[in-house]
Amino acid sequence: MLAEHSKSKKIFDNGFQISKNADLASKIYGKKNVINATLGIFYNDNEEMHTLDIVNDEYKNLSGKELFNYSSSISGEELFIEAVKQYTFGKNYARSLENNFVEVIATPGGSGAIYNTFKNYINPGEVVLLPNYMWSSYKLMSKEVGGGHQTYSLFNKKGKFDLINFKNSVIELAKIQKNLVIVLNNPCHNPTGYTLSTYEIKGIMNILKEACNMCNIILINDIAYMDFNVKKNDLSEFYRDLPDNFLLIVTFSMSKSFCCYGLRVGAQIAISSSKDTIENFLDASLYTCRSVWSNISKGGMTLFSNIVLNRKKYRQLLLEQSYMRNMVKERADIFLAEASAINLPILPYKSGFFITIPFSQGLEKEIETKLKNENIFAIIIPGGIRIAICSIPKYKIYNLAEKIKKVLY
Ligand SMILES: Cc1ncc(COP(=O)(O)O)c(C=O)c1O
Repeated sequence: MLAEHSKSKKIFDNGFQISKNADLASKIYGKKNVINATLGIFYNDNEEMHTLDIVNDEYKNLSGKELFNYSSSISGEELFIEAVKQYTFGKNYARSLENNFVEVIATPGGSGAIYNTFKNYINPGEVVLLPNYMWSSYKLMSKEVGGGHQTYSLFNKKGKFDLINFKNSVIELAKIQKNLVIVLNNPCHNPTGYTLSTYEIKGIMNILKEACNMCNIILINDIAYMDFNVKKNDLSEFYRDLPDNFLLIVTFSMSKSFCCYGLRVGAQIAISSSKDTIENFLDASLYTCRSVWSNISKGGMTLFSNIVLNRKKYRQLLLEQSYMRNMVKERADIFLAEASAINLPILPYKSGFFITIPFSQGLEKEIETKLKNENIFAIIIPGGIRIAICSIPKYKIYNLAEKIKKVLY
């Protein structure tokens, strides 16, 4: 009975299902014999989902009204909007963003922020440009809003961002589309853990500014993993000297940085040098919010602003985040050192939740089964095994590279 446009909807790469299979295997073979490297959730070394003390404390301090009332506005609580800007661009955001217009809309997680952007900027028949290795939800969302997708190659032979392929992909579409929506997922790209260098960001922006002579450019930078970047985050290259038909949407998420996956709080941060563009963004985005999810958890937004706008609480947050970041780094260092010692190829990793081991496309089913036989559960993407090091305790990382190599070769 489905409507025609919904008949082909089926999710094939369901991480949640694979994770359930891992839990089942743990019951049969014992937890210590099973590696669940599936979900992008930070688990501590006791294999428990980690939560932050500052977040727990603040949540418990919220009043019933703060938790359960509707948000005071569809775009989000005023303090939340202020806190998102400070959190993402620093306290002096007004100065660093000068010459641009900026608006923030609260969304259900980063997912809502990406969906909202696709919904309002992909014209019927147009495609969005995605990285060839990607978080698979981008594809689902582009289809959900009636768009298609094409991919650019992330890496050249030297293991750097492939600026040449990016340029060709952008220009090819810019010639034939009115709008071109492009997704970057930086820093700590899912699934590779790659982070662009300043040189690469400058190169990307030069290409996109040139493409603005052909069509409107909407660049989404998905920063869901920004707090796991081992280097300092600096988004300024993305919003320097923007042409007036260029719209930057930074999609923010509380899920990973605050261990608040189920709270569903995120935001679209829209930046443009054109006042009209930003006013139009507000009109259309608010309409989509109201018609799809209405408004965002007041408790979640208040929790965020209470922490971010309070110097002491914010300091504690940074401390707790650095603990997680260091744990992820330790795990990554072990895996990468072992992989390098046995010549197991890895896609270029800098930091973040995931490491990807490439293989020849077409072998996905076979590799998934072989891994499962070794009690290793991971997301298989086209041509790669995505290992969520965020969810594996340190002691299980040892020898993992070797086990994977045996499965592959
Ligand atoms: C690359 C990427 N972007 C965005 C998200 C969105 O997360 P959420 O909707 O929970 O904020 C995820 C979650 O896994 C992700 O991996």
